[in-house]
Amino acid sequence: MASTDFRTPALDALARKIIPAQHFEFSAATARDRFFNDTRMLDVKQRIHNAFRTNPTPMLDHMIDNLALTGTEDLLDLGCGNGFVLEGLRPHLAEGTITGLDIAPAVLEAAHKRLHGTATACTWIESSADDLSMLGDDAFDRVMANYMIHYVPDLDRCFTEVRRVMRPGGIFQLTTDRTDSMLEMYQVHFAALEAMSAPDDLFKATPKGRLSLANGAGVLGAHFEQVQTVAWQDQLRFTDPEPFMLFYEVGHNHCCASSEPDERLSEDFFRELRDRVRTQVAQAIEDNGYFAVTKYTGSFLCR
Ligand SMILES: C[S@@+](CC[C@H](N)C(=O)[O-])C[C@H]1O[C@@H](n2cnc3c(N)ncnc32)[C@H](O)[C@@H]1O
Repeated sequence: MASTDFRTPALDALARKIIPAQHFEFSAATARDRFFNDTRMLDVKQRIHNAFRTNPTPMLDHMIDNLALTGTEDLLDLGCGNGFVLEGLRPHLAEGTITGLDIAPAVLEAAHKRLHGTATACTWIESSADDLSMLGDDAFDRVMANYMIHYVPDLDRCFTEVRRVMRPGGIFQLTTDRTDSMLEMYQVHFAALEAMSAPDDLFKATPKGRLSLANGAGVLGAHFEQVQTVAWQDQLRFTDPEPFMLFYEVGHNHCCASSEPDERLSEDFFRELRDRVRTQVAQAIEDNGYFAVTKYTGSFLCR
């Protein structure tokens, strides 16, 4: 099998040069009312990840392995989104239960529809992950929070609540990225911004910098006895710029530059930004045969 260690020393050196120390910050309200008021952003990201990944083992298998399910567990998924992960995981919980919680009603409804009528009993709750007051003590064997923790307003309260609702012997899986994940996307994006003399405050890392795979273990260690980090890599490879452009524009809001209304930035600004990014991607495809986007992600397993 081909190696799935995609991070070369050259990429590590590049990361140190181009990923800013400061990161974007978004509120739970921005997540609910802008990013996840429909399923489009999630659908685009999930479809493109799946279509262009080169690690033969899907990320979902990594999550399922981490959870060490026997099939009878009660599982809580914080920020469950459109149920994409839950759908894949569900057959491993045929005699267990699933509780999906999300702040955004539109994606929660999509998850509900996706799992409706399946063998596993499901419950859906609209709430912020730092308010689990509707759930009893020691109610779950497994709790997950995948790619969502950076939106949660009160992290301390969230982790205290996870501890309360999780049974002794349970596992809390928190999955997130390093800020230098998808480095090549940030490289072409920042190069285009620089060429356009864009405002300085657009040069920021992903909001996942708030609690990333690189810096989260210490924060979690204050709440859980054991915190294990399990890294995961993949590489998306594009031989046509257009699917990448959709991923960049819709899936990541131009690396967050178009995430919030900003009257300094016109539609022309974003058109020029996309043109400049597309040109670099097309050049990389011509030079190397594909444009690579290297994912550096993984999970904290907390007990
Ligand atoms: C990037 S999506 C991840 C969805 C899913 N966990 C997955 O991995 O496919 C982030 C999800 O977190 C939800 N979210 C954002 N802020 C939240 C909060 N404070 N509490 C609960 N869910 C939240 C969003 O509505 C969205 O569904």
